[in-house]
Amino acid sequence: MPPPLYLDYQATTPLDPDVMAAMMPYLSTQFGNPHSTEHRYGWEAKAAVDVARRKVAGLMAAPADTITFTSGATEANNLALRGTMALAAQTRRRIVTVATEHSCVLETARDLQAEGYALTVLPVQPDGLLSVDVFQAALAEDVALVSVMLVNNEIGIIQPVAALAALARASGALFHCDAAQGLGKISVDVQTLGVDLMSISAHKLYGPKGIGALYVRDGVRLKPQITGGGQEHGVRSGTLAPMLCAGFGKAAELAAGSFENEHHRYRMFWQHIVEALGVACIKHRINGSVTNRYFGNLNISFPGLDGNRLLADLRGVAVSSAAACASAEGKASYVLAAIGAPDGASLRIGFGRPTTYADIELATGRLIAAVQRQTQP
Ligand SMILES: Cc1ncc(COP(=O)(O)O)c(C=O)c1O
Repeated sequence: MPPPLYLDYQATTPLDPDVMAAMMPYLSTQFGNPHSTEHRYGWEAKAAVDVARRKVAGLMAAPADTITFTSGATEANNLALRGTMALAAQTRRRIVTVATEHSCVLETARDLQAEGYALTVLPVQPDGLLSVDVFQAALAEDVALVSVMLVNNEIGIIQPVAALAALARASGALFHCDAAQGLGKISVDVQTLGVDLMSISAHKLYGPKGIGALYVRDGVRLKPQITGGGQEHGVRSGTLAPMLCAGFGKAAELAAGSFENEHHRYRMFWQHIVEALGVACIKHRINGSVTNRYFGNLNISFPGLDGNRLLADLRGVAVSSAAACASAEGKASYVLAAIGAPDGASLRIGFGRPTTYADIELATGRLIAAVQRQTQP
């Protein structure tokens, strides 16, 4: 049996072969510790980390020394929230975030609330976008930190981060952005966005799993959450993995040269599926704004249908019925609930670099047939 057709690129992406090649030397001959300063083994490993840091920073137009490597976006989000709140002024004890953030932001914010900080979780509009007016009204004088993601992992919408960050900073709050689903997919520039902190993850852009980073604007202070040898500007101790750094750097370099063309291709795939559903008279609703969005993500609800049956019936097409972590726990999607998606089946279809038109035609055919098997006796 051939492997299922992978259309779940928001969950993760395959390692690009060039990324793997860039990692290999650090799994064999160049095994040095990047923090060893006395000999060539250490220098070579450090040089690899430095090059990677510059490439990752370059993809978001940031200075290299603003990048702190972490184990992924989950850790970066934890460090951003816990690290800034621990040093927040006594008069600013509130975090403002959004109902559709990733669970690693929401759970961390709730943890901090349990520790005594105040928390505001803002609702979104039916298209998934945060209203700038609602946001502005929440910016009270006690707000220390705002956390709003760039591209939503479930519904693909792009929040108006530049406008929100400008308001937050004018009010004296720090602005953190979870850009794990944005970097390498759409244009990301930390100056244009005006963010103070930004989380990213390598495995969402054809890099290795187990590495991400937090961008920390010069002058923003964080309390370290992992202490020890004082690596990563003293903010995140622990020996860095040069092979993961090298892979992340290469992935960033590759993404820089390809994401615009890719996005154009995904828009055509997206439109192809939506039009085909219309032609086949399939009752559906597209979740999330159809304009302010990343087109590598198509999230559709089929009112009244059974989601598990639909997934099982897709016959060799691997998509998600919600965010991967949510479906692993068997929970309904709080993101879809927040935008008022109809009851029934919901699928997240994600396109990636290897996806072809033939793949999209095959997946569309299987999807329409699976829906029709449930709706037509
Ligand atoms: C928006 C967003 N934030 C954070 C994460 C967590 O990233 P990581 O797997 O690198 O910890 C993910 C991954 O699912 C994500 O999509």
